[in-house]
Formats: sequence, C-alpha cells, structure tokens
Amino acid sequence: MLKVGIIGAGRMGNSHADNLAKLDSAAVTAVYDIDPAKSDAFKAKFPNVSIKRSAAELASAPEVDLVIIASPTYCHKEGILAAVATGKPIFCEKPLCRTAEDFKELAPIVSAYENLFAIGFVRRYSPGVALMEKLIADGKIGNIICSSVCCIFGGFRRVWGDWFTDYEKSGGVMLDMLAHHCDLQNKFLGKPVSVYAQAMRLPKNLEKPRDYVSATATYEGGVISNLECSWLRGGPSDTYMTVYGEKGALKLSDSEGLTFFDIGGEATKMEADEGILGHLQEDISGNMYAQEIATIVDCALTGKPPKAGAKEAIEAMTFGLGMIRSAETGEIVRF
Ligand SMILES: NC(=O)c1ccc[n+]([C@@H]2O[C@H](COP(=O)([O-])OP(=O)(O)OC[C@H]3O[C@@H](n4cnc5c(N)ncnc54)[C@H](O)[C@@H]3O)[C@@H](O)[C@H]2O)c1
Repeated sequence: MLKVGIIGAGRMGNSHADNLAKLDSAAVTAVYDIDPAKSDAFKAKFPNVSIKRSAAELASAPEVDLVIIASPTYCHKEGILAAVATGKPIFCEKPLCRTAEDFKELAPIVSAYENLFAIGFVRRYSPGVALMEKLIADGKIGNIICSSVCCIFGGFRRVWGDWFTDYEKSGGVMLDMLAHHCDLQNKFLGKPVSVYAQAMRLPKNLEKPRDYVSATATYEGGVISNLECSWLRGGPSDTYMTVYGEKGALKLSDSEGLTFFDIGGEATKMEADEGILGHLQEDISGNMYAQEIATIVDCALTGKPPKAGAKEAIEAMTFGLGMIRSAETGEIVRF
C-alpha cells in the first residue's frame, strides 16, 4: 500500500485524491495547504489524513511514501525542493514552475533525481494519444510535414484575484493550458528549433480576465507547428491537434476523438483499443486522470519510468518559456 501526501488541496489536489481513492494499491495519508480551511475541507472528505503545516513537514512525514505537488504553479519550486530533500518519489502537476530563474535552479535537480519524478502531462495517459503515437510510429501518415494545435476555450470563468488570472503567477495560457500540447508537439515532432509568439498575457485593463496566444514553432527537419490557445469569454470551445504527413493526416480532437484523413481527404474514425494503455485497474479505463494516477502509483511501487518525467517537464518548460520570451520581446526565440 503506497501512502500518498498531497501539497495543495484545491481542484487538482482533490481530483488526484478522488482518483487515488479508487485504487487498491494506494491511500492518501497527509495534506498540506497554505489555507487551513482547504486542509480542513480535505480532511472532512478524507478523514484518515493528517494535516501538515508546511511542504517540508508533509514530505518528510513517515506516513508519506509519494509526494504529490498540486499547489499553484508559482509554488511548485517550494514543494519540489521539500520533496527532493527526502529522496521520495514525486509527482508534480504541470508546468514544472513559473519563472526562468526557478527553471534554471530546478532543471538540473529534477533531471539528476534518482527516484521517480513525474510531471502531470495527463494527455499522455489518454488512449487517443497512445493510438496516435502508434499510428505515427507505424508510418500511417509517413514523414511529418507540419502540425497545428488549437486549444480555444470560450468559457473562462475565473475572476481577477484568482492566481490563474495573474500572469506573473500562472504564465497565462502559454505556460498553463498550452503546456500539455507543447509536450505533445515535442513528443510527435521532436526538438523545437525556434518559436515566435504573440500573446495577450492577461491584460489588467480588461473588465474580466482573458488570455490568448498565437505561436509558430519550427522543429528540427523544418517541420512547422502552429499553436493557438485561449481563455476567452462567450466564444466557442474546442481542443484539437492535427499532424500532417506525406501520406495523410491525424486529427485528435476532444470533441470528435481521433480521425485519419487520407491524401484524398477521406476521413476515417480511429478507435483506440481499450487495452492500449494497459489495464492497471479495470474500473478506471476511459478516465485519463485516473489512468495517470494509477500509473504514477505503479511507477512509485515498481521503479518503472512514467510516461512523462523530468525530461518531458524540462522540454515543455523550455518551449513554454521560449514562447513567453518571444511574446514579451517580439523576437523569434531560437533554442
Ligand atoms: N493537469 C491538468 O489538467 C491540470 C488542470 C488544472 C490545473 N493544473 C495544475 O495544477 C496546479 C494546481 O491547480 P489547481 O487548479 O488545483 O489550483 P487551485 O487554485 O484550485 O488549488 C491550489 C491550492 O493550493 C493552495 N496553495 C496555494 N499556495 C500554496 C503553497 N505555497 N503551498 C501549499 N498549498 C498552496 C491553495 O490554497 C489551493 O487550495 C497548477 O500548477 C495548475 O497548472 C493541472
């Protein structure tokens, strides 16, 4: 039985705890939130947890085997350093951290970490991504030519004062929502060479917070990727990623699943086999957050590598910070 401590008892802390409760192999045993009311509410839901008063106290507690960091992005460094000091397995929500300074400090630490360091790129635990990876590896679309990512969210409800709406704390859509697709673009296209981005960066003069980025990246081999992401109010919402190859294209959409388009444009739905991610536990298939947590627990117990670890955290962060630097300076950033 793996005993799990959670830093940050907000939306993701609760989501991970709910999914841990579905597993036979793990139990949540401790929580730390800077807001005592959040820790109390968490304990009301999970009565067996002990409440800790700092990230360090939680990480070093004897009843904690795995540390989950689900605090806001600008606080990840505090949680990571506390957990690293104990040598225990770590699962940190994405992105790795907020600033270039924190990244410079953390990148060598997490890449040299000898125990599990997993990052929350939950889309890697979806059957659609696993099938897309398999089809690309099997040559279904041939050599990749270009790619486009669209993460348009028109239902953003957060208000000023929430840390998500503070660009200095969250990094806005560039570091937050788009992080998953930066990771997937790196996975499918390889190493980015350059990026140019234009972004709103949560301008404070707007009555309600909104954010938007449009970026173009070039990958090794000349593959061009276009990325668009938003937190907007009142418009449509959809998330998809299309990878175009010499022999066809694959589009993975949250609303429509995975579709293959042949050279003539004919579309064929591609259904992922139930077992493509491996059956860790029968009742959790179809829920990528539950799959993610089940896999991390398995990795912590067995020493297997996660689907997204320090390397993926660092590469996506490099890309995200590159976008941010380009949006802030107006320059093309070369990696
Ligand atoms: N993987 C995903 O799909 C996904 C989705 C949403 C958020 N996230 C990431 O998860 C993290 C948390 O996001 P959230 O939506 O749960 O935020 P949230 O605001 O709902 O929860 C954050 C919690 O952390 C607490 N907190 C603040 N500072 C702290 C500190 N220094 N130490 C401990 N606790 C602290 C807050 O009181 C709050 O309860 C962020 O990094 C975010 O980018 C990932």
